[in-house]
Amino acid sequence: MSSEIRLVLAAPTQRDITLITTLRRECGWFEDLVPTWFQQSQEGTRRLFFIVDAANVTSDEPIGMISLLLDSAKEPDMASFSTKTGMVQALFVRPEFEGRGVGKLAMRLLEEYAIQSHGIERLTLVTTSGSAKTMGFYARQGYYEFKARVPPPTDWTDALDACFMKNLK
Ligand SMILES: CC(C)(COP(=O)(O)OP(=O)(O)OC[C@H]1O[C@@H](n2cnc3c(N)ncnc32)[C@H](O)[C@@H]1OP(=O)(O)O)[C@@H](O)C(=O)NCCC(=O)NCCS
Repeated sequence: MSSEIRLVLAAPTQRDITLITTLRRECGWFEDLVPTWFQQSQEGTRRLFFIVDAANVTSDEPIGMISLLLDSAKEPDMASFSTKTGMVQALFVRPEFEGRGVGKLAMRLLEEYAIQSHGIERLTLVTTSGSAKTMGFYARQGYYEFKARVPPPTDWTDALDACFMKNLK
């Protein structure tokens, strides 16, 4: 199934905004950031993608999402046009599709998109060090911790955030 996965750009239409909001609600984090994400998309500093199972002709519902931040004034070491650094954010695979290689393929497709469409040379991301699953998942995709762990922006966990990087060149 996973070989049929595609990334489809989300547009600032009511349908796509609703779909992204529904995915964030299901994931449990960052529903409140959806308007900002679409604003950044329109400004050209972010790309928002649906993960779609192209083999399933009976449904065009996304099975997940992923985002690429192209530039961050607040955190230029994580995403910056000038250093060709992008940041993977908001990866979510719906629970019924987990464990089948979808997340891994979505990461690979995003990496290819980042290189081909934006000349990006390295990708960063943040995940909670309290999650053995995501820490293991990103390490398995070739990402490594490149700076000291930082407190999370919200108090939902006591665990520090881990900052990962992968060189794409
Ligand atoms: C994390 C998440 C994206 C993974 O997606 P997924 O489709 O279930 O992952 P995959 O099936 O593609 O797994 C890919 C790889 O991760 C590896 N992996 C999974 N859990 C692991 C663990 N605990 N330790 C080491 N490797 C692990 C698998 O072995 C597999 O590697 P391999 O095929 O090379 O052996 C998904 O579980 C999810 O959306 N979780 C909820 C939201 C979330 O946590 N997002 C990340 C926020 S930073």
